[in-house]
Order: sequence, then structure tokens, then C-alpha cells
Amino acid sequence: VNNRNNDPGRAGSKAEFESNWKKRPETLYTHWTRGEPENQIQLAFRQHWGVFSKIMREAWPNRSWRGLKALEIGAGRGTMSMYFADAGFDCTLIDSAAAALDRGKAVFAHHGLAATFIVGDALETGLPDASFDVIFSIGLLEHFENIRPPLIEQVRLLMPDGLFLGYVVPRNLDNVQKDYGWINELLRAQNPGISPPTEKTDVYRSSYPPDAYTSVLRQIGLRSVTQCGLYPLPMISPSIDFPFTLNPPEVEKVIVHHFESVLRRREQETGQPGWICDASYGQAFLVSGRKPSR
Ligand SMILES: C[S@@+](CC[C@H](N)C(=O)[O-])C[C@H]1O[C@@H](n2cnc3c(N)ncnc32)[C@H](O)[C@@H]1O
Repeated sequence: VNNRNNDPGRAGSKAEFESNWKKRPETLYTHWTRGEPENQIQLAFRQHWGVFSKIMREAWPNRSWRGLKALEIGAGRGTMSMYFADAGFDCTLIDSAAAALDRGKAVFAHHGLAATFIVGDALETGLPDASFDVIFSIGLLEHFENIRPPLIEQVRLLMPDGLFLGYVVPRNLDNVQKDYGWINELLRAQNPGISPPTEKTDVYRSSYPPDAYTSVLRQIGLRSVTQCGLYPLPMISPSIDFPFTLNPPEVEKVIVHHFESVLRRREQETGQPGWICDASYGQAFLVSGRKPSR
């Protein structure tokens, strides 16, 4: 793993991320939809939202979400925030990459959703203490070598009884994806024009297990700390590296249809959302916790 940013606790390769945003057509995809998911990315976000909303319903069984304050850190285009905004939350999105956040602004406006967008740093947001009911991130925390500082900042921003949700994509070469590498190689052989972005080796990503996050979250004062593996499906594409390349729409339709039946079967077997799985098998994991009430 190569981190060109030598300051521990800082996220790696922000400049590379910015330049990817400007160059690659994949950044124009819309990952949020109110309707049926049309491709693997939309399906994944829909499933993330299913798990996030279940945790929130269990945490606040008698509370309306309308007007609750939600903050997404490292929001990029803010797909998960679109689910929150559509469910009535008052959303704020922070990202250090202005180009990614601009895409978020455009997609929100296109769908008639409102939010506050702030270019800022996850380690020092400058926002007041105890100002959000729920704070979440998707694919941010794994970019920090020292996970304590960004977690401390998020807990500072949480109101009493507020909820923290961190979706982490660890570097795990042994997960569900490894059984499907041959399909992706086949697709790549059929699509020689599509190559993975060369910048990928420059993006730092940790391999800390869920326990590393949950123990810090407990130390810094959260309660009801939980963890679960997520995303027990592979990405099927000629280029699965960031930014993920979709297949033609008719191929995506077939994949989504198949994946949905796999998820239904998992749900019947386990009695919980099919998206939840063993953390060593899934492509990601989720850690969550509550700030004690005053
Ligand atoms: C993998 S992307 C995920 C984007 C988005 N959450 C999503 O679901 O598509 C990680 C994001 O974190 C942002 N980021 C990285 N380091 C950051 C920092 N120190 N402060 C704020 N944002 C940061 C990047 O600019 C990028 O938009």
C-alpha cells in the first residue's frame, strides 16, 4: 500500500481523486434512484440505505425523521445523502474535493432535493459541537492511517443520542470478489478499450478490521456500538476499480435481477437483510454507535 501523503491521519491522494473526477466519464453516473435499481451501483446504494434505515428505525423507534439533521463526511456526489434527504432529513455534505461535491450539487438539484454543501476537511470541519442527529460516511474512514482523529471529530459533532454510521471498504483481497475474478477477466478481454485507472495504486486504503473501529468508538464515548459485514456480492465489470465501469444497460439489468434473487434467498435463510454478511466475506463493513443522552 502506497501512501504519498506522509502526514499520518490525513487521507491519501486527494489530488488523484480530484483529477479522476475531472477525467472519467463514469463520474457522470447517477447512483440514486427512487425507482427500481437499474445497475449494480444503484442496487448497492439501495441496499446500504436498507441497512442504514433499519438501524435508525431501531435506534429511534418513535421519532419522525422529518427535519432531523444529517451530515455526510467525504460525501463526494452524496448518493447516500440523497436517500436521507428524500426521507425528510435536513442534510449537510462535506468533502475536501470541490469537483466531487459539485457533481453532488448538480444531481441533488436535478432531482429537486435540497442540501447544504461544504468544501472542508474531515479532521477539522469547523462546525459547532453537538449539531447533528446522525453522521455517516461511505468509503472515507479507510483512507486514514490513524482512525482516531476523524472519529473524534465526528463524535464531537454528534448531538446527545445521535447516531454514528461508518461504512468502510477495507483492503481485503480474500472477500466475495475473488471468486468472480475470472468473469471480470472475460469481460475485460471482450472490452480491450476499457482499462483500470492507472492512479489506483496511489490511493491509500487500510485493512483495519471492524474491531479496530469499534474499540476506538467505545473509547471515545459511544454506546451501543455494533458492527456487521455488508455487500456479499461481487462487482461484475471490465473495470471494477475506481471509478467503477458499468456494463451495457441490458447486461446490468440481468445482473441486478440475479443479484436481487440472491439477496432474497439470503434474507429467507438468515432472517435479516440479505445485504448483511460475514465481514471477511463482504466487500465492506458497517460500524455504528450512539452518543449517550445527556
Ligand atoms: C471513496 S469516495 C466516496 C464518496 C461518497 N461518499 C460516495 O458514496 O460515493 C471518498 C471521498 O472522501 C473524500 N475525502 C477524502 N479525504 C477527505 C478529508 N480529509 N476530508 C473530507 N473529505 C475527504 C474524497 O474527496 C472522496 O470524495
